[in-house]
Amino acid sequence: EEEASLKDRPPVICVMGHVDHGKTSLLDTIRKTHVTDREAGGITQHIGAYTVDVDGRKITFLDTPGHEAFTAMRMRGANSTDIAILVVAADDGVMPQTVEAISHAKAAGIEIVVAVNKIDKPSANIERVKQELTEHELIATDWGGNTEFVPVSAKTGDGIDDLLETILLTADILELKANPDRRARGLVIEAELDKGRGPVATVLVQKGTLHVGDFVSAGACHGKVRAMIDDKGRRVKEAAPSTPVEILGLSDVPSAGEVFLAHENDKTAKSYAETYLAQNKEKMLEETRSKMSLDDLF
Ligand code: GTP
Ligand code: NA
Ligand code: MG
Repeated sequence: EEEASLKDRPPVICVMGHVDHGKTSLLDTIRKTHVTDREAGGITQHIGAYTVDVDGRKITFLDTPGHEAFTAMRMRGANSTDIAILVVAADDGVMPQTVEAISHAKAAGIEIVVAVNKIDKPSANIERVKQELTEHELIATDWGGNTEFVPVSAKTGDGIDDLLETILLTADILELKANPDRRARGLVIEAELDKGRGPVATVLVQKGTLHVGDFVSAGACHGKVRAMIDDKGRRVKEAAPSTPVEILGLSDVPSAGEVFLAHENDKTAKSYAETYLAQNKEKMLEETRSKMSLDDLF
């Protein structure tokens, strides 16, 4: 990519951690909404993608589930983002999916910021969390290491400003850039067949700008973007780098994690999707099988 065409883009942050440690609550507090109230059984079962404004700067968050069944979603989350927020409940400490999240973030080569959550609880023990994480090579700056630990409470809002500031400082060091003036490229975050609207895919635009009317492929699916809806439910005409957006108009439901591309025309989009299908038939069958066994769990 030519240096001159690169422009600053917002950081994309993956929120990971053990089940019920407060990932969605933390994002609710940051966004001042109540997503957790709408979740069946309080268990996140998909990736939620949201952009927030902090002092005129944008941050995009991907919320991931902590339930052990969703390893693939955590891995995809880590692989699509710049920084991981590792949420650890101060009363519970390091748990199996905390450790798993650390390994995904390390494998993806992304920076980890630790949010020690639920500090409002009488049984909260921040120092114990720091101690436990030293065993996973995450050493707090005040303990001589280089991992930022931010004590927070999603319930009271304590520490949230510190967390956002730490995210922005960490992002500044990364000097995140993308070219907005090219055909869009990104990743499918999740997708489903909607009864009224047909295939609906949430995509994260990573490079370029996606427009209504663009010809696209997503794995073995293709189509023309008929409409786009942002994370606030508004119809939008375009989506810039680091923006999550729902798109309508695909021929079929793509798998999460697939690469999403805008093409010159209908023909190239279709032939790209067909080639992809021919090359990945076995892998796609395997994914359908594992998805069916996941659906049995819930
Ligand atoms: P999964 O997505 O299912 O892995 O859970 P999660 O990490 O998103 O946790 P969630 O936000 O659903 O919160 C789990 C429970 O912890 C809920 O009952 C929340 O109300 C509670 N909780 C979250 N943050 C805090 C906090 O800071 N303090 C207290 N006291 N409770 C919290
Ligand atoms: Na939960
Ligand atoms: Mg959740």
